[in-house]
Amino acid sequence: MSDATYDVIVIGSGPGGYVCAIRCAQLGLKTACVEGRETLGGTCLNVGCIPSKAMLYASEKYEEARDHLGAFGVKVGKVDLDLKALMAHKDGVVKANTGGVEFLFKKNKIDWLKGWAKFTAKDMVEVAGKSYKAKNIIIASGSDVAPLKGVEVDEDRIVSSTGALALPGVPKHLVVIGGGYIGLEMGSVWRRLGAEVTVVEFLDRILPGMDGEISKQMQRTLGKSGMKFKLATKVTGAKASKKGVSLTLEPARGGDSETLEADYVLLAIGRKPRTEGLGLEAIGVELDERGRIKTDGHFATNVDGVYAIGDVIVGPMLAHKAEEEGVALAESLAGQKGHVNYEAIPGVVYTWPEAASVGKTEEQLKEEGREYKSGKFPFTANGRARAMNATDGFVKVLADKKTDRVLGIHIMGAEAGTMIAECAMAMEFGASAEDIARTCHAHPTLNEAVKEAALAVDGRPLHI
Ligand code: FAD
Ligand code: NAI
Repeated sequence: MSDATYDVIVIGSGPGGYVCAIRCAQLGLKTACVEGRETLGGTCLNVGCIPSKAMLYASEKYEEARDHLGAFGVKVGKVDLDLKALMAHKDGVVKANTGGVEFLFKKNKIDWLKGWAKFTAKDMVEVAGKSYKAKNIIIASGSDVAPLKGVEVDEDRIVSSTGALALPGVPKHLVVIGGGYIGLEMGSVWRRLGAEVTVVEFLDRILPGMDGEISKQMQRTLGKSGMKFKLATKVTGAKASKKGVSLTLEPARGGDSETLEADYVLLAIGRKPRTEGLGLEAIGVELDERGRIKTDGHFATNVDGVYAIGDVIVGPMLAHKAEEEGVALAESLAGQKGHVNYEAIPGVVYTWPEAASVGKTEEQLKEEGREYKSGKFPFTANGRARAMNATDGFVKVLADKKTDRVLGIHIMGAEAGTMIAECAMAMEFGASAEDIARTCHAHPTLNEAVKEAALAVDGRPLHI
């Protein structure tokens, strides 16, 4: 017997789950969303995208006032950090966003089933002792921090991203394990606030998923700002005490070990799909070799009526990817033709400068043996960037050698994350580099560098 019956039950209220629930409700499906956290919004709104961006923005302002405003002729007195106020800003932003999702649920008449969902049959879940039945059940349970042997996260001295969003004070020395999205973003926050930051990365480059040239230049620029890097290095152990952490490091390809002392360690070597506790074994949902829920091109699992989206399935672990999947699945369930274009999903690292990317990297194109042309334009030659004292970085456009179709665009620079939107749009419309080059871009804007890089694909940039 079920306590209530729905067309759709979504498990998890992250950007995948809550957006999917809203779209289902908009399309007239009777929808519920199960969430075990105290607040809606998942990792992204509670302990991910939103709080980290609030801290990145605040710390950027602090550093700007302390170190950079003078160059614009703006005199400020002694700049002090009020960490409590900074954290209150972050908490307020999280509250506004999670409360916003609750409001949207009410507006769209979506039932929030409070508690942790467990399958009792393929069309039934149990939540807080009650049973709920649905024609379709969507798993959007997200991801958790990937563990590292020998480094036990205690969220006190050895923290995950969640702990790094709430350190009690500015560390003297923060060691970050992993030179990816979280390591560089949270490392930037605490470096700006005054910590010495050392990033220990297993590979011989940071940001392994990004275009190689972006990674190299990002490392150089972040290095100039004071962040230290130990590449091709692995952490083999971490001993935490009340005062700090003693880490044992080894060269990735073998060699003598060394120790590194830190007062805090942030473990950020990736995330793993969250499938425990859902009772997937009971209904026979298959996982792949990396523990992700296996789905077909329409988000269907091997069990009839059970679907999965977001971080818990294959693909980049990004909020907007999860959202797109949520919308596409809701539309398919309502009889429409939902679709996600995985070729045009942007990725943005919100450091200063930002790194943003859409489509294929040069490394990927080389590996595929695809013939391509490349056009580059540096921000040193962009008038607006000069006016902003933000000349670090460049735009790179990669296009098919024969057809000129854009295959990838990679940007390092101030506001790269905003600029990448026009690039994703261009790719979505199947634009050629010539199409971008012939599109009138307002002057003076940073985006003119995108147009110039597109012109450079054909060897005719105007301002360099
Ligand atoms: P989640 O957001 O993880 O949500 C899953 C929800 O399901 C959780 O709330 C969980 O409590 C709930 N749940 C799980 N199991 C059950 C159950 N059995 N019953 C009920 N509820 C359950 N991505 C970006 O695109 N941009 C960023 O700037 C960005 N910044 C990030 C910063 C940090 C520090 C982190 C950690 C991640 C960041 N991400 C960012 C990644 C982004 O947060 C994820 O890709 C996104 O949240 C995935 O959405 P999701 O809906 O799949 O899952
Ligand atoms: P990540 O995959 O971005 O980076 C992990 C890094 O750790 C990689 O460079 C990897 O080579 C390295 N690594 C792996 N094992 C290691 C080891 N044993 N020792 C040292 N280094 C090791 O993962 P991260 O930073 O944890 O973030 C998780 C995910 O969350 C990201 O992949 C991204 O999908 C998402 N995210 C997105 C953000 C954004 O969109 N701006 C911000 C933060 C997170």
